[in-house]
Amino acid sequence: MPQRPKRASGLALSTLAVHAGREWRPPGTPPLDVPVYRASTFRFANSAQVRRYNSGTAAGGDPELFLYGRYENPTVQAFERRLAALEGAERCLAFGTGMAAVSTVALAHLSQGELLLSSSVTYGGSYRFFRDHLARLGPRVLFRTPEELARSDWPRGVKLVFIESPTNPGLRVLDIRVLATRARKSGALLVVDGTFATPVLQRPLELGADIVVHSATKALAGHSDLLGGAVLGRKTVLAPVEKLRRSLGGVLGPDDAFQLSRSLKTLELRVLRQSATALTLARRLARDRRIRRVLYPGLPSHPDHAVAKRQLRAFGGLLTVELPGGVVTARRFFDRLGLVARAVSLGGAESLASLPVESSHIACTAEELRRAGVTAGMVRLSIGLEDPDDLWADLDQALGRG
Ligand SMILES: Cc1ncc(COP(=O)(O)O)c(C=O)c1O
Repeated sequence: MPQRPKRASGLALSTLAVHAGREWRPPGTPPLDVPVYRASTFRFANSAQVRRYNSGTAAGGDPELFLYGRYENPTVQAFERRLAALEGAERCLAFGTGMAAVSTVALAHLSQGELLLSSSVTYGGSYRFFRDHLARLGPRVLFRTPEELARSDWPRGVKLVFIESPTNPGLRVLDIRVLATRARKSGALLVVDGTFATPVLQRPLELGADIVVHSATKALAGHSDLLGGAVLGRKTVLAPVEKLRRSLGGVLGPDDAFQLSRSLKTLELRVLRQSATALTLARRLARDRRIRRVLYPGLPSHPDHAVAKRQLRAFGGLLTVELPGGVVTARRFFDRLGLVARAVSLGGAESLASLPVESSHIACTAEELRRAGVTAGMVRLSIGLEDPDDLWADLDQALGRG
């Protein structure tokens, strides 16, 4: 049997393959932006450093020290700091998906018997999590329409209020300032899912909300190529959420965090461009006799146009059209689209179309659809970065002769 070759260091090839070259230090001329720390664990210099790490808060006492990837990672922290700056938040916690963010917030802030008051018009995943899972675990859950939430007769003893604005697919804009004041008076925390607006268009914390959640999968990522989520707010309000994130483990990975940090650099450019194109198309579609109704908060005909003008910097890249003839006409329009892709999700470079009754709201009863304001003739469009005239040409040919 040939001898195992030893190197000058006295170590075998297999040992060298694992350890050689690992004494990496950040270079004296650092990279322009934070690199990907693709690491599940971090190496301590000695036991004193371990004690220094342990002597701090749950997140590690010394911001220079890292223990384990489920707790903290430099690339993930860089994304969290950048998004916190955009949202005007003290702290941001990144998650592996938007649903991990939503569910961790609800589980962290609600115990047995405590009451969640949720808007009935939210992303179906959030609605189903509250109805089918959270309620089973002990907290009580009540749903109210945006109109009912706008009235002052809230039930007593509410601990957490959860709303989404703008909503899917009706693009309702709920008055965050009014609801935040009411939540404060009721002794409740207000959580706003701001996915559709991003901090470019709407900053709920400045309007009095306590927590903002985002599906970072959408416009924050902006290229339909990753999943992510974020929770933002004051450090004290986020402390239980961070503690639970460490237990449940729904963290964002470093590669996706790097991509997200990169995407944030172009967020404003993308969102403003999508908003401008959506407004142009919404105005054109609103004049078109082949369309029954256009739901876009930038149109004076939208029920929440006045709130939208106060609350949003621009009106966003989502718009919903309702076709006469219900689902048959909606399906025909959908099937004829060429440039616009038939796909769920939103906020990417490519324009997308989806049929709410056959995607986001497929599991809803007729009563739930009525309460969510969803009809069978609706087609939701997520406007991308294509040229507005090319998009119009596609919509026009898909509408056909009506
Ligand atoms: C408004 C809103 N919130 C939350 C989510 C859930 O996000 P994710 O799919 O990243 O879990 C979505 C997903 O479509 C959404 O549209």
